Amino acid sequence: MKNRIEELLSRVGEFVPASMKEIEDFRIEILGKKGVLTQLFEEFKTVSSDVKKELGKDINLLKVATINKINDLKESIESSIESADSVEDITKPALFEEIGTRHPISMVKKEIIDIFTRLGFNIADGPEIEDDWHVFSALNFPEEHPARDMQDTFFIEKNPDILLRTHTSSIQVRVMENNKPPIRVICPGRVFRNEAISYRAHCIFHQVEGLYIDKGVSFADMKQTILYFAQEMFGAKSKIRMRPSYFPFTEPSAEVDVSCNLCGGKGCNVCKYTGWLEIMGCGMVDPNVLISSNIDTEEYTGFAFGMGVERIAMLKYGVNDLRLYFENDLRFLQQFEAII
Ligand code: DAH
Repeated sequence: MKNRIEELLSRVGEFVPASMKEIEDFRIEILGKKGVLTQLFEEFKTVSSDVKKELGKDINLLKVATINKINDLKESIESSIESADSVEDITKPALFEEIGTRHPISMVKKEIIDIFTRLGFNIADGPEIEDDWHVFSALNFPEEHPARDMQDTFFIEKNPDILLRTHTSSIQVRVMENNKPPIRVICPGRVFRNEAISYRAHCIFHQVEGLYIDKGVSFADMKQTILYFAQEMFGAKSKIRMRPSYFPFTEPSAEVDVSCNLCGGKGCNVCKYTGWLEIMGCGMVDPNVLISSNIDTEEYTGFAFGMGVERIAMLKYGVNDLRLYFENDLRFLQQFEAII
């Protein structure tokens, strides 16, 4: 009896059916009511008690092995039928490709560009890897100015004259060098600063710079241009205010605030209960900057401004963590789909 069980076990192990029917026949032969296992159990009743324990185990082993084998065979045949089906079933609905959308930073950058092109500004571009002249010296940064410090600027190790631009103001220098006034440009681009990454600072971000140089350009022109921008970007009811500030490349300089579009100026936690949100720096181009680019300061004046795209996008859409823009998390990005 032991030998028969062993033979049956190896038959089960080696069984390779050609069809579902062969599996079913095999199942009936072994597990069926009148099958081999039933016979074995019958015989088992008659064996002597000293071999009962061992034989019982063997018969059970055969039973379990057969059941498992049959189940496995059925499953693999069924799944191969299914996959054959899915190739051939042309009536099945198509799997839709998920289509991405523009990144919120690209959307806001485009909006800024659109607003200024409506006012007649052209778009100018410049290199991200710059030299000290275009980022600092031509913009009237004194030799010992802290912005040149290793802490803020990524310098190229082998040549400290070459660096990653820390602001897009470098593009205005290139534009002034290569064009004669009147000049009316905006300069969008990526900038780099050696900052620890947090919810409010990143080592890579985007700026849009503006520059307008012509005969008789005044502070009033600048104020009206920025008011137009603020109302187009944040709503027609927006107000602006200017606070005196300092930049080496403008004199006088100002920081621009827009009335908080979330609380309408009443005060909320976004505007820290002041009713105002800081959106950019600006000022009248310092004569030293014009002289560096060979522009006649007797004839021409100009204004410049610079803003962070991430900051404008944060204020416009209530984003409270700068890092979200760089993580490519679809749950964040998909919230901007409807806004295009
Ligand atoms: N370059 C400045 C910065 O990165 C921003 C800026 C301020 C640009 C005033 C300007 C300006 O053109 O007039 O912080």
